[in-house]
Amino acid sequence: MGETKKREQWGSKLGFILAASGSAIGLGNIWKFPYITGQNGGSAFIIIYLIAIAIVGFPVMLSEFLIGRKTQKDAVNSFKALSPEKPWFFTGYMGVAAAFMILSFYGVVAGWTMTYTWEAVSGNLLSLDASQFPDHFGALIGDPVKPILWQVAFMVLTVAIVLGGVKKGIERWSKILMPLLLILLLIVMFRSITLEGASAGIDFLLKPDFSALTPTSFLVALGHAFFSLSLGMGTMITYGSYLSKDEKLPSAAISVSVADTVIALIAGFAIFPAVFALGMEAGAGPGLLFMTLPGVFQQLPLGTFFATIFFGLVVIAALTSAISILEVPVAFFTEKYNWTRTKATIILGFVITLVGMAASLSMGPWGGFTIAGKNIFDQLDWVSANILLPLGGLFILLFVGFGMKLKEAFEAADFSLDSKFGKTWMFTLRFVAPGFVLLVFLNALGVTGALTAAIIWSITLVFLYLLGVIGD
Ligand code: PHE
Repeated sequence: MGETKKREQWGSKLGFILAASGSAIGLGNIWKFPYITGQNGGSAFIIIYLIAIAIVGFPVMLSEFLIGRKTQKDAVNSFKALSPEKPWFFTGYMGVAAAFMILSFYGVVAGWTMTYTWEAVSGNLLSLDASQFPDHFGALIGDPVKPILWQVAFMVLTVAIVLGGVKKGIERWSKILMPLLLILLLIVMFRSITLEGASAGIDFLLKPDFSALTPTSFLVALGHAFFSLSLGMGTMITYGSYLSKDEKLPSAAISVSVADTVIALIAGFAIFPAVFALGMEAGAGPGLLFMTLPGVFQQLPLGTFFATIFFGLVVIAALTSAISILEVPVAFFTEKYNWTRTKATIILGFVITLVGMAASLSMGPWGGFTIAGKNIFDQLDWVSANILLPLGGLFILLFVGFGMKLKEAFEAADFSLDSKFGKTWMFTLRFVAPGFVLLVFLNALGVTGALTAAIIWSITLVFLYLLGVIGD
């Protein structure tokens, strides 16, 4: 009650880029990217991931920014505003559903990082022998109570910041702490690559072995490009909607994509050399970060100090992402049902926390319960990141490519009509990116040859375009 209905805006251009980077950079970069890279054989997987970022991620990010800024509306109503007659807004509903699912398990992982921060401060963590770290992590997720308490603590923080509103809450945090995280990651990386036996880890990241890839790896790489860049569910539409008209969107989209990718790669170089040096398992799964990095901190002077700051900063990186996830349903519920921000944030935060508790228990005490072969945690992650986000992204591409008028889309993206960059972007989002997404889906479904077709499709189109045969 008494809240003004005037839409908030970012304080400055840098504020927007930092907030959008704050959304993109999070557990996806530091926790998930290394562990899925480890499960999918290393370097070849990274190459596929980078291709997905360039030809699918970037075009979608620019599309989301322009939809949000043009309409100044949330994930659902922005589509309705631009295309009232057609069912494109369904994409927004899928996004709201994806946000629910992602934040529920995201809160659990963030809870683990809070636990580790606490254990690092209290000195307990680094007093263990390096060989005990896997069991130590196993004991945490096997505990029925402890991870849930930390998950709830994290969700309370998330709700508190979102209650404060866009500018005060989100922008201020991102501004100060993102650069600090980068510095800490670099320190950890340098220690990690100078450990004895680290070179096997560097090879793992730099020498591609394409035979390690399965059809599923391609889907995981694509899904992670969306997850890591916060795309496909309307986060960047919602953030774009708080942007004023005088920013240049293409350069903003480039800055955010590059920052996110660089951080993920640094995290990879911080973790894998240590994985091999300490004799850990590259395919260890969701616990990889937690089993490996404490061993690196043990080898650093002032290890306890660095470990505390590092895990603390990961918590904050997770927070700046979590608030952007919660912002999607909050913006939708306030606009659609006229709920106050307070009511929407508290109710939604509560429901998401409950689902997250089930996800947390499914990593330990409820581990025997599976849906289609995966526990609740893994299933929430799989369906949201690898199905809902790429599908949402596909619709966003098609919407901007075909649902909007060409001139309208160019203008909204700050391109002049004869911009070469603009034309390449439009061509990629109309033809190359949708083809890539569709064929990766088909390939994962086991449609024979679809992958080869995907590659041939993309390359042929790019060539025809460069030759001027098609396009414009
Ligand atoms: N991009 C965030 C991360 O890498 C997670 C996220 C996904 C945020 C989807 C918003 C939307 O941690």
